[in-house]
Amino acid sequence: MARILFTSQLFQPALESLAGHELVLPKPEGSMSTEEIIASAQGADAIICQLTDRIGETVLAAVPGLKVVATVSVGYDNVDVQAATRAGIPVCNTPGVLAETTADLAFALILAASRVLSDSERDLRQGGYKKWELDGYLGQDVYGATLGLVGYGRIGQAVATRAEGFSMRVIHHDMAPTGLPGFVEDLDELLSQADVVSLHVPLTPETRHLIDARRLALMKPTAVLVNTARGPVVDEEALGAALESGQIFAAGIDVYENEPAVHPGLLAAPRAVLVPHVGSASFATRLAMAKLATAAVAEVLAGGHPANTVNPSVYEN
Ligand code: GLV
Repeated sequence: MARILFTSQLFQPALESLAGHELVLPKPEGSMSTEEIIASAQGADAIICQLTDRIGETVLAAVPGLKVVATVSVGYDNVDVQAATRAGIPVCNTPGVLAETTADLAFALILAASRVLSDSERDLRQGGYKKWELDGYLGQDVYGATLGLVGYGRIGQAVATRAEGFSMRVIHHDMAPTGLPGFVEDLDELLSQADVVSLHVPLTPETRHLIDARRLALMKPTAVLVNTARGPVVDEEALGAALESGQIFAAGIDVYENEPAVHPGLLAAPRAVLVPHVGSASFATRLAMAKLATAAVAEVLAGGHPANTVNPSVYEN
């Protein structure tokens, strides 16, 4: 019987694959501090965390005998994978199961931001809708526009599939050439061509502030930026300023540099649709993610090598 620490609550059905193990469940509310994680993880064979929990080198070093870490997210920037790899600990994530749901949200933001839905709804709720006007609440057409995808993994490609239904021209950029039609090697070139830019890259040292003030200035004044990837991929202060000055038209944002905080400049900016990191938030998908994470832990504890391991080199020794 292994001891498994959950740093955050998980859905009950996701725990079934771990039957027979000792499950250390967190308090119902709030997330655990690093100190609390270390204290609760003593003697643990596995940690199942979520993207709000940081599993850094300090935690990994303080839990001798740790055999696996699983994060209930596709992004794993919350875990120090290099330190885990050095310690021979597999890190598992939840790829695949959330791609379509996250692509749905990205497309919802593309539509909502292009058609200034947040500003117009706010105006209506505040009693500002007095009469229909020919030039009221004007936005940009999505139909027929050029969509620039930055990052062309599962989620980026799922957004591209949706764009076909809107007769969009789709171009994409990725860190390495994809060999697929629509690849644009130069990110700056993609930014200057696209009417809508949607971000689908993981957060790494290379992608931190990938979209900064200089790159925002390359975008069209009619352009819309959508971020469902990770907040620090965009310089949030620069984005707020670009919206304020009209340098770009609108933004649809799901993720923030310092969640749950949102930069005041972005909160105050016009034509910004801001939602609280809900990319994968459907009932079915969040449950599938939780099940994938627990199943991976069960597999490692049984001596297996789950496919959703981000550092599979640890299995080589
Ligand atoms: C959500 O942001 C995830 O990485 O799963």
